[in-house]
Amino acid sequence: MSQTDLTCLFLSERDLEKVGGLDMPACVKVMEDAFKLVGKGDYLMGGPSQNEHGQKLFFPLETNFPNMPIAGPDRRFMSLIAYLGGDFNVTGMKWYGSNIENAKRGLPRSILMTVLNDPDTGKPLAIMAANTISAMRTGAVPGLASKYLAKQGSKVIGLIGAGIISKTSLMGLAAANKQIKEVKVYDIIQDKAEAFAKEMSEKLGITVRAVDRFESAIIDADIVNVASSGANKPFIKAEWLKKGVMLSLPGAVHLEDGIMQNAKLVVDEWKMHVAYYEQNQSVPKDDPRRFSTSFLFDLIEEGILKESEIESLGTIVSGISGGRQNEEENIIFLTGGMPIQDVAWSHYLYEKAKQASVGQTLDFWDHSPVLS
Ligand SMILES: NC(=O)c1ccc[n+]([C@@H]2O[C@H](COP(=O)([O-])OP(=O)(O)OC[C@H]3O[C@@H](n4cnc5c(N)ncnc54)[C@H](O)[C@@H]3O)[C@@H](O)[C@H]2O)c1
Repeated sequence: MSQTDLTCLFLSERDLEKVGGLDMPACVKVMEDAFKLVGKGDYLMGGPSQNEHGQKLFFPLETNFPNMPIAGPDRRFMSLIAYLGGDFNVTGMKWYGSNIENAKRGLPRSILMTVLNDPDTGKPLAIMAANTISAMRTGAVPGLASKYLAKQGSKVIGLIGAGIISKTSLMGLAAANKQIKEVKVYDIIQDKAEAFAKEMSEKLGITVRAVDRFESAIIDADIVNVASSGANKPFIKAEWLKKGVMLSLPGAVHLEDGIMQNAKLVVDEWKMHVAYYEQNQSVPKDDPRRFSTSFLFDLIEEGILKESEIESLGTIVSGISGGRQNEEENIIFLTGGMPIQDVAWSHYLYEKAKQASVGQTLDFWDHSPVLS
């Protein structure tokens, strides 16, 4: 094989499982390392702002073309690109399609892959199945955030939604909060909540029970995590929230007026949400395709929220700013998901796979007509 030959590693879901793809404590640690780099600024994401969440293929509300997809709840294609520095020193991308109708076809709502590249030459290093990668990196972040933002000794978790992101969020929260005694889960499909409770009780060895009323999952919970999908956005009333709650929002919600004003707001990275807002300025306020954190900018415009009071996880994790100040304050943690998370967890697993000689080598070329 010559120096210019090009191969890369393909890692399937099975391969990733073999090398620790479901190791949540490791994933929380990798996210902590990645967010420290974000706090220091040693990362790049898309666009001139270097902070774009990604590029979205916007489906039209209607079309005359027979095969063109039309807009629907949680229906999109997205590419998320990033460079992450420090010991990672890698570039990469997550590429996925999402369609809520997939459940009827026995498929997951979103189907994902990641690609890693050498940041200097651009050579592809790995192509990886990424449903587990993405779910794990998403769930690890509420876990990481709870280390800094949840009350000391939090005992009860309330979960809204019994899908894959709720599962990994619970894994993340349980990894970071060893003292958790009880978990309550609500889903609009009661059977899903029941199945979730059975599976996760067995997996985590803690009491997880399905509740049949939405508010029952929230009342008395020290940490509430919302990860539902689709058109039916959960609505949360202020009176249901326990004092000092950490409300973790990887998914979208409607919050009763007043909840935001009376809480500390922490996001994964505020610069990313600003870039998202700037990218999406042309989308009208009542358009269902508007991005999920756009409501923050409406609140800022209305003078209800001050931009200067919004904190980012990276600065908290790297010790630049505060985190929780007392046991009384309610904290809302809002995560839109960052490409650096996908790159970080993919890179960790790629290194593990190389060490263990797991995966399939793909030949890009040992000869190419355009190279010779
Ligand atoms: N922030 C991030 O990094 C990130 C990453 C991936 C996904 N997400 C978001 O997380 C959410 C969940 O993703 P998923 O893959 O687990 O979805 P999923 O479709 O697998 O599961 C969602 C569950 O929510 C339930 N549900 C829908 N409306 C509900 C309601 N009003 N109350 C209670 N339950 C309700 C559904 O029945 C389903 O069981 C999505 O909104 C997705 O966009 C966020």
